[in-house]
Amino acid sequence: MDLIDKKFLFVVGKGGVGKTTASVALSLAAARTGKRVLLALCNAKDRVSHMLEVPPLTPQVANALPNIDVVNMEPSAALEEYGMMVLKVRALYKMIFENRFVSGFLHGTPGLDAWAMLGKAQHHALEVDDEGVERYDLVIVDAPATGHGLDLLRVPKVIVDVAPPGPLRREAERAWELFSDPKRCGVLLVALAEDMPTNETLELHQVVTSELRMPIAGLVINAVLRELFQNGDSHTLERLAQAFPDLDTPEHQVIRAGRARASLEEVQRECIGRLKRGIDGPVWQLPRLSTQDLRRAEAEALSLHLSGLDRADAR
Ligand SMILES: Nc1ncnc2c1ncn2[C@@H]1O[C@H](COP(=O)(O)OP(=O)(O)OP(=O)(O)O)[C@@H](O)[C@H]1O
Ligand SMILES: [Mg+2]
Repeated sequence: MDLIDKKFLFVVGKGGVGKTTASVALSLAAARTGKRVLLALCNAKDRVSHMLEVPPLTPQVANALPNIDVVNMEPSAALEEYGMMVLKVRALYKMIFENRFVSGFLHGTPGLDAWAMLGKAQHHALEVDDEGVERYDLVIVDAPATGHGLDLLRVPKVIVDVAPPGPLRREAERAWELFSDPKRCGVLLVALAEDMPTNETLELHQVVTSELRMPIAGLVINAVLRELFQNGDSHTLERLAQAFPDLDTPEHQVIRAGRARASLEEVQRECIGRLKRGIDGPVWQLPRLSTQDLRRAEAEALSLHLSGLDRADAR
């Protein structure tokens, strides 16, 4: 089954590894196949509008591109809107959410903000129009950087375990049923093929599978350097360095640059190997682009690497 055939994807990873980039690329890949996508940010700095070259994201769902809706979920707006979506009637919403006991309970619940956003996102994932047709084929949640990303994923289970019976608990149960279903939902890990990020990704994988017991949809290794050297080339470079011992010559500078690059590539190869061995699921690799200012053209280019076609190559 391909990544974009899921209903709901959480894109998680350490800060700055490329979660937003991967989420945008994935949205484009899915939209290209005709899927209707909702890309949801969690109260995050909006890099998406710059990348997609569309107006800034807001807490309201808006259409950005054909087949792609976007939203930057903001907890209190999400809670009210989500409360309304679930409870339909504002008076009922007020009665439940503004009730002294309930709101006392809610404010004592860890991760209420997270739940507001998650609840809203899962609600959209299951939302149907007047004819009973689901509004989105795929909801992508670009989770906050690791710690918070995991907090977010922990919330439905906490609510299922501690909330008194009622609409909140029913919703959390519905969400948990979706999130723990490997056919419909998955956690997409994003990593960099460098030492620390690799370790952190393997730890994150461990928490998601053992503690949260959520299905892994796969792994995106981002910003992969094109290989200029092969295993063994470092010996050649070493020999060359000895042949040009004078450190100030241009030849020696070029050799030094080559050695630095070859060693980066070696680390990368080793990390990719560890990631593939440690994570059970499909792997996609996104190339490191020459610019950091990624716009629509770059996002489209990256999205091509996320289609099923490249998967066999990437493994
Ligand atoms: N494949 C790539 N090639 C080149 N630059 C990239 C690539 N992927 C991401 N970047 C750049 O790296 C930076 C971080 O990417 P991004 O914002 O997607 O990470 P993030 O995991 O969402 O970060 P945060 O944890 O802050 O939300 C951005 O400046 C982005 O343009
Ligand atoms: Mg981000």
